Amino acid sequence: MLFSSRSKALIGLDITTSSIKLIELSGSLGNCRAECYAAEATPPNSINEKTIVDAAAVGEAIRRAVKRAGTKTREVAIGISVDAAITKEILLPRKLAPNQLEEQVEIQADQYIPFPMAEVSYDFQVIGPSAQDPDMLRVLLVATRTENVDQRRAAVEAAGLVPQVVDIDSYALENACQLMAHQMPDAGMGHLIAVVDFGASNTTFSVLQDMRVVYTRDFSFGGQQLTEEIMRTYGLSLEDAGRAKKEGGLPSNYGPEVLDPFIDDMTQQVSRSLQFFLASGEHRGQPDQILVCGGCANIPGVADVISSKVGIPTEIGDPLGQIKISSRAKAQNVRKDATALLTACGLALRSFD
Ligand SMILES: Nc1ncnc2c1ncn2[C@@H]1O[C@H](COP(=O)(O)OP(=O)(O)OP(=O)(O)O)[C@@H](O)[C@H]1O
Ligand SMILES: [Mg+2]
Repeated sequence: MLFSSRSKALIGLDITTSSIKLIELSGSLGNCRAECYAAEATPPNSINEKTIVDAAAVGEAIRRAVKRAGTKTREVAIGISVDAAITKEILLPRKLAPNQLEEQVEIQADQYIPFPMAEVSYDFQVIGPSAQDPDMLRVLLVATRTENVDQRRAAVEAAGLVPQVVDIDSYALENACQLMAHQMPDAGMGHLIAVVDFGASNTTFSVLQDMRVVYTRDFSFGGQQLTEEIMRTYGLSLEDAGRAKKEGGLPSNYGPEVLDPFIDDMTQQVSRSLQFFLASGEHRGQPDQILVCGGCANIPGVADVISSKVGIPTEIGDPLGQIKISSRAKAQNVRKDATALLTACGLALRSFD
């Protein structure tokens, strides 16, 4: 199920600790249209550290989002986090018949996956012939403990939907980056591009080389910290602080005393991630561009600050920049939230497989 291919309508569903976002894309990669979009806040205490602990509550929120989006599509693609996935490239003889290939993958999976096979869901994809040995086939094996999929599946099913594709967030991100190629020098080919997704509690720093993810760092940092600082400084409730952050109306010392230090923190996280990336292997060079994504990319001026302090051209990543928007999705304000929709878009793109 991890890679199952399809050609029918599919909802990309991004379930995080802070929100549930869904988007449906139609057409083809070069000629793509957003059919519908909706986001819902994740019910309090229903997801703990990326684990769904209350599938019924999450299911209800998904159901509300689907209703608001106004879609009839019931099949969805969901993602699991990179840390929950095991990926391994294996080599198998090219002459194997398809059923023999499956058998061999299972034998190899048993060898590489450190859990009893009864507790594991896995899938594989043939990458192509090996450059070193033309008689061998490169096969990508992807596995996760079934429990990681089960809680997400339960929430999706509780909403009356069908989990058709289970992807890995980093693959979804790689897919979604194709929608930002129009912003990259030479559409990303021949370049290193860093993509930073600043969420609510989580940030993912990825580096693409020729549009393939070659490095990922996932760490705990995000807009929730700014919300909490606003709560502390101005004695506001969580809800009011979250709203004020997006809509303004805070006292004049908010910029210099609260917001600017947070933007400095974001910049430092980028610098640190770049250092980790440069130290992560030989031949690592400085990226040619940084694309800032996630909800925090909506903070005015953030790209300019990062660009001037880090010294790399920086832009806000917009996966919907070249996409047509249906009137239904337009009414749902999808453009305004575009930069936070990277994962949801990457999952939705699986309908083009
Ligand atoms: N206009 C805005 N100005 C400032 N912050 C914003 C704005 N819009 C959204 N945010 C912040 O972005 C964060 C949410 O980003 P995003 O939707 O990318 O996170 P997420 O993917 O749901 O969460 P996570 O990745 O942490 O699991 C929240 O902290 C939110 O307050
Ligand atoms: Mg996110």
